[in-house]
Amino acid sequence: MASKIQFSSKIGLVAATVGSAIGLGNVWRFPAETQGNGGAAFLLLYMGCVLLLGIPVMLAEFAIGRAGRSDAIGSFRVLSPRRPWWVIGIFAVLASYLITIFYMVVEGWTLEYLVEGLIGGLYDGIPSDAAMSEALFDSKMVELTQTPFKPALYTALVILLNIGVLLGGVQKGIERLSNVLMPLLFVILVVLCAVSLSLPGAADGVRFFLEPDFSKLSPQVFVNALGQAFFSLSLGMGILITYASYYPASTKLPRTALIVSLLSLLVAVLMGLIIFPAVKTFGLDNNTLEGTTLVFVTLPEVFSRLPFPQLWSTLFFSLLLVAALTSTVSISEVAIATLQDRLKWSRRRSVLTGLLPLLVLSLVCSLSFSTLSDIVVAGYNIFGMLDNVTTNYMLPLVAIATCLYAGWFMPRGCLRDELCNYGSLRSHVTGITTLILRYVAPLLILMIFVYNFI
Ligand code: PFF
Repeated sequence: MASKIQFSSKIGLVAATVGSAIGLGNVWRFPAETQGNGGAAFLLLYMGCVLLLGIPVMLAEFAIGRAGRSDAIGSFRVLSPRRPWWVIGIFAVLASYLITIFYMVVEGWTLEYLVEGLIGGLYDGIPSDAAMSEALFDSKMVELTQTPFKPALYTALVILLNIGVLLGGVQKGIERLSNVLMPLLFVILVVLCAVSLSLPGAADGVRFFLEPDFSKLSPQVFVNALGQAFFSLSLGMGILITYASYYPASTKLPRTALIVSLLSLLVAVLMGLIIFPAVKTFGLDNNTLEGTTLVFVTLPEVFSRLPFPQLWSTLFFSLLLVAALTSTVSISEVAIATLQDRLKWSRRRSVLTGLLPLLVLSLVCSLSFSTLSDIVVAGYNIFGMLDNVTTNYMLPLVAIATCLYAGWFMPRGCLRDELCNYGSLRSHVTGITTLILRYVAPLLILMIFVYNFI
């Protein structure tokens, strides 16, 4: 077990884990939730969920991965060989694979918008009439995401890009990529933030974002904040178990969890500071800032009204691509590590066997907006079904089971040993983490689950 590959540096492991956490969740889901649920009131709730519930669950996943030193299924087997806890790992691997299928499609759209913005004439011939230009970007979105050929081509390209990175392995692929892309992501964020905050409507936008409207709070909003916190920290997907199995014994888990969570929160806040001033300035704040529309209609419209639209568009879609790529690399690693550790396959064979089927599966998912749009179950097309089943049902279930396992059933003392590095660290967080894992987190996550049913 000791020969298991590890991240080669502290910075590298933090960059990789932060890269996994920062994804479309921060850019795509957060602004819509904030807009509809009381601005900073939602932000505060979300922060509370991250700090009080997200961090303990993250610590549980870290502890399981580092103590088990194996993939998301194998770690449970190593720690509890005679018990069926590894079933949690099976669900995590399955959920992560299903998520990868549709996330690759969105990553493909992102690359497509990046290229179209640069050389494809996305910003050519924009009429000055505001309503017209919204209609124009709407129809461009339909063309770029809901026709059969082009989006599928870009999805295939990003899958090949992921395969290329992952063939490089943990240190030369994932870690190297994250070391380069994470600083880049923060530089782009700061530049876009500065531009947005210098727009004439910035003060109004910031006020909307940072002034809490507590009258909007409700149990449903709490459920959304918790769901957002879990998704944006990549919990319940097996990613953190897998990555922690590559952490050296000296890594301080509580500190790592805190850094990752705070950086993920910071990115969400910066996104708010980019989006709300921009949409306020151009009177687009009545648009729903919901995922696809926000990213592929509202923001391109904002860019088109600024001087140098292509520059801002390129920066933004590069940012989104970086966020998505470091996330898909991490989620793909869950399946790859499972193939490598369970079947003792080589890295190359595991990467190719794990990811090449995505060329077909994600293609089918991409076509669910065009050729296969007739396949609808309970109002969802294939893409929507995958999203709904994984985020609303599988992830909460895996998260509850992980909390209960780490809180009650993991071998005695194992959680404490991992959190305080076998006594070499004084850990003040073990007691409170155990308490949250045993009672608070499972009950609250159960609430999400029940709410999604009714
Ligand atoms: N934290 C990630 C995000 O906010 O997008 C969660 C994630 C989703 C990671 C999908 C990886 C992934 F493929």
